[in-house]
Amino acid sequence: MSHIVAGYCEAMHLPSPRGKLSACVADALLRQCQIGSMDASFAEGEEDAALSLWMLHELSYTGFTDCDDGLEWDIGLVTLRLELESVLEEKLRERFPGPPELPVDDLVDTFFGYVENHEGPSLASYVQTDGTDEQVLELLRWRSVYHLKETDPSAFVLARLPRPARAALAELLYDEYGAGRPERLHSHLFAQALRSVGLDPDHGYLDEVPLEVLEMNNAITMFGLHRRLRGAAMGHLAAFECTSSIPSRRLVRGLQRLGFAQPVIDYYDEHVLADAVHEQVAVRNILLPLVQAEPDQLEHVFLGAFTCLDQEARVARVLLDRWGVVV
Ligand SMILES: [Fe+2]
Ligand SMILES: [Fe+2]
Repeated sequence: MSHIVAGYCEAMHLPSPRGKLSACVADALLRQCQIGSMDASFAEGEEDAALSLWMLHELSYTGFTDCDDGLEWDIGLVTLRLELESVLEEKLRERFPGPPELPVDDLVDTFFGYVENHEGPSLASYVQTDGTDEQVLELLRWRSVYHLKETDPSAFVLARLPRPARAALAELLYDEYGAGRPERLHSHLFAQALRSVGLDPDHGYLDEVPLEVLEMNNAITMFGLHRRLRGAAMGHLAAFECTSSIPSRRLVRGLQRLGFAQPVIDYYDEHVLADAVHEQVAVRNILLPLVQAEPDQLEHVFLGAFTCLDQEARVARVLLDRWGVVV
């Protein structure tokens, strides 16, 4: 068995399998053996399938320690990835009630209203007034799956957008990636926040997150990796930015109430102002020119937005339920 060490310093360790399929994927990644006759139907439940897809997606980010970088394009693994993505996409489309009726030029107001009217429990409101230290630490561990690669899924989309939308996304990404300062990358700020409270950003808290967190991250990556889903990727990004500034302010207040370390407070404080700007850039300067140039992307924009809001609500319900909070 030959192990090839990936050349990327931030590569992570493989998570623990959750069934036959994810065990087989992990084995294939480490041993570089063929995935063989394994297909999506071998998954022992939704968590097994979701974790398998998450591992396959990771090959398109920084990869895993002791795993050959070339496996990203291994034909057997790519085939399995596409099968698992197809199952996930079908699930997301079944949940999606469809886009609102609108002329494209009304997109901006309609989109802001669509996000505002989506109902779901607010983790940030709970943390602001009632959350405990342990609950916030759990929230940070669950959020780390996304925030440690914050905005990376959107970066996949950059080359696939019409010119005005591409320029606006580049502007937004410049901010998320630290505006030229490596120490200001948002993913790095989150890693620093984790360290300040004794958590380990290199650990990867995959083993403790539920299906809902895995699916949330898989959906964002799937939207980012498939050009045909570029509208969904940008709709997701816009909904994410539109629901960040006010909750970030609530989290800051909760973290201050609990006396959390300053890097954690600073991370969320950064997003109070930044995302108030990003939501305008995302909706007015990315979504609008995108659907004006490519009206067929309108439905995907709302599929992405709905998926973002719906999955956030699902994760919030699981977490609040664990904490015994009645919503
Ligand atoms: Fe950010
Ligand atoms: Fe942002």
